[in-house]
Amino acid sequence: MKRILLTVLSCIACQGWADSAVIEFTPAEAFAKDKPVSGQVLGDNCSACHGTHGAFFNEIMPPLAGMDRDTFIRLMLAFKQGVRPTIVMNDVAKPYSREEIERMADYFSNLPAQPWSRQTLHEEK
Ligand code: HEC
Repeated sequence: MKRILLTVLSCIACQGWADSAVIEFTPAEAFAKDKPVSGQVLGDNCSACHGTHGAFFNEIMPPLAGMDRDTFIRLMLAFKQGVRPTIVMNDVAKPYSREEIERMADYFSNLPAQPWSRQTLHEEK
């Protein structure tokens, strides 16, 4: 009962907040003539996991820097369309258009591939 009352009260409080805050969204068409976002800027969205300039990798995180352009596009489209099921990448790839994926492919494929720093998968003592 207490929980229901709290939920109702917080909904009323939220409603009051929503009424007082006027949020105006710019329609997507307003950006239609903007310069396309570069592959580098799009690729920066991947830094949190794949490292700055796609250069971080380890046993569980594949590198993006230096990846073959066509392979990158094929993988991203497969993630986007859900034909290659993954834990993370299906949701990451979904919002990108084919053109954006191609721009990122140009960017990452032109970066130098990083050498594998470990010679063994076992921790050195
Ligand atoms: C939240 C972490 C995260 C973010 C952000 C992220 N990735 Fe990934 N990425 C992963 C993981 C984890 C994998 C391994 C597959 C899986 O489990 O999803 C992966 C795999 C990939 C692969 C496959 C590489 C291979 O050799 O198989 C590509 C290509 C890729 N990511 C591209 C991107 C791009 C481009 C972005 C940014 C638009 C991005 N990722 C953002 C975590 C992430």
